[in-house]
Amino acid sequence: MLHIDNLSATVADKPILKGLSLTVNAGEIHAIMGPNGAGKSTLAYTLGGRPGYDVTGGTATLDGQDILALAPHERAAAGLFLGFQYPVEIPGVSFVQFLRESANAQRKSRGEAPLSGGEFLKLAREKAGLLRMDMDMLKRPVNVGFSGGEKKRAEMVQMGILDPSLAVLDETDSGLDIDALRIVGEGINAIMRKPDKAVLLITHYQRLLDYVKPDFVHVLAGGRIVKSGGPELAHQLEEHGYEAVAA
Ligand SMILES: Nc1ncnc2c1ncn2[C@@H]1O[C@H](COP(=O)(O)OP(=O)(O)O)[C@@H](O)[C@H]1O
Ligand SMILES: [Mg+2]
Repeated sequence: MLHIDNLSATVADKPILKGLSLTVNAGEIHAIMGPNGAGKSTLAYTLGGRPGYDVTGGTATLDGQDILALAPHERAAAGLFLGFQYPVEIPGVSFVQFLRESANAQRKSRGEAPLSGGEFLKLAREKAGLLRMDMDMLKRPVNVGFSGGEKKRAEMVQMGILDPSLAVLDETDSGLDIDALRIVGEGINAIMRKPDKAVLLITHYQRLLDYVKPDFVHVLAGGRIVKSGGPELAHQLEEHGYEAVAA
């Protein structure tokens, strides 16, 4: 599925990723943990192709395809979904409009016919239901006035509609209360825990991993993966901290 080999990247000409290697196979959920400033968001943005994040070495392929050579929308069409630490607000555009446009743009670049209004609404209702999101909520402008938890749930509705093969979720648990955490965790499982999909879950805390159980846990520090293990590694980190466990 995803093969990252010796990836180096700069942000505003500052080296941040320094030879990061990671393989994620279909059917697997990987958690990435690590101290603030380690380069976790930089990894997500570099995979997503955000401007200003420049690859200076190494490779990243998704199902054998060199994703680093693709424009951001082409990466999405190739099956990559990026969940943001801070979802953006888009005044003047309703969430349903936004979801339908993004779903149909993706279908177009895959050479598929656009969804009809009815087909789209059926799909949106189903995915909103998974995230316990009221359709009335999705008629409002994108994220405007949404609470932190609502933004993340709405983002997971978007993920459900886009149906990616690989989701990279950056601190999806930040700003969630206990109920929202469970709803989002169950939503991620319902949408992504499938034999032909994979998830890269960036998080600071064990609490999300209680719902979305990782197969592998990695510590990212200083721009590379410095330690990998199973789910027990997340517990060790929570108990003893990064310095003690990954020094
Ligand atoms: N736009 C930017 N300009 C300069 N430095 C940046 C920028 N964005 C991130 N950085 C720096 O890159 C490093 C890694 O940041 P980030 O990937 O956000 O870390 P993490 O998500 O692991 O907390 C930090 O030292 C941060 O200050
Ligand atoms: Mg970050």
